[in-house]
Amino acid sequence: MRARACDMAALLWAQVIWRKGGLVNAARASTMRSVRLLLALLATLSLAAGCGRPAAPPAAAEPLVRLDVIYVPSEMAVVTAMLEGVGVGPSDVVYDLGCGDGRIVVTAAARYGARGVGVDIDPERIAEAKANAVKAGVADRVTFLVQDLFVTDVSPATVVALYLGSEVNLRLRPKLLSDLRPGTRVVSHRFDMGDWTPLRTIDVPLEDGPRRVFFWRIPG
Ligand SMILES: C[S@@+](CC[C@H](N)C(=O)[O-])C[C@H]1O[C@@H](n2cnc3c(N)ncnc32)[C@H](O)[C@@H]1O
Repeated sequence: MRARACDMAALLWAQVIWRKGGLVNAARASTMRSVRLLLALLATLSLAAGCGRPAAPPAAAEPLVRLDVIYVPSEMAVVTAMLEGVGVGPSDVVYDLGCGDGRIVVTAAARYGARGVGVDIDPERIAEAKANAVKAGVADRVTFLVQDLFVTDVSPATVVALYLGSEVNLRLRPKLLSDLRPGTRVVSHRFDMGDWTPLRTIDVPLEDGPRRVFFWRIPG
């Protein structure tokens, strides 16, 4: 739009310059008034179009990754409730689909001796998760992958942790039911699975009120 206005202004300037001799030579007062008016108009048009400034950068760049859910970390009290609610232990392999900074997987390894896999589509989150695993001394027991959770091979999991959203949970549900082994525990912070009735729920007391956690087991 701005470029078009600049082009128009430049075009009008060219016409004025081209005709200038004839106009000035005529030296009629009314013509001079018209020229001044036209020049003022062109100056205004050029300024409004920002022709003197460098071109604006192209429209905001597309985000590098398309998130199905934005990043909001689970409160640590909820992480503890999720892991203790599924009774996680050293024989477990805990998957967190959309793992953020890796806190669920890192806690499962550091506090309960489990192994874990965290998957996040955002490389920045995975970099944080890896750093957190090193800090907690569990980097040898956890793996973090930059990946779309809808393509993750979840079959090795004995526990799957989620903090996603109602709609994403519903889209994920068929994959969980078909790819997870019978008996695998699924735990979700805040969001249910539609008409897949949870085996139980707990409400974790937080400052802003209770937060629900849902538990299921893959039938088989
Ligand atoms: C609400 S956060 C939960 C973080 C972590 N699970 C927790 O409970 O602290 C959701 C995470 O899912 C990630 N995410 C969104 N869409 C995704 C996708 N299609 N595949 C993998 N990760 C995704 C986001 O980058 C974000 O880190």
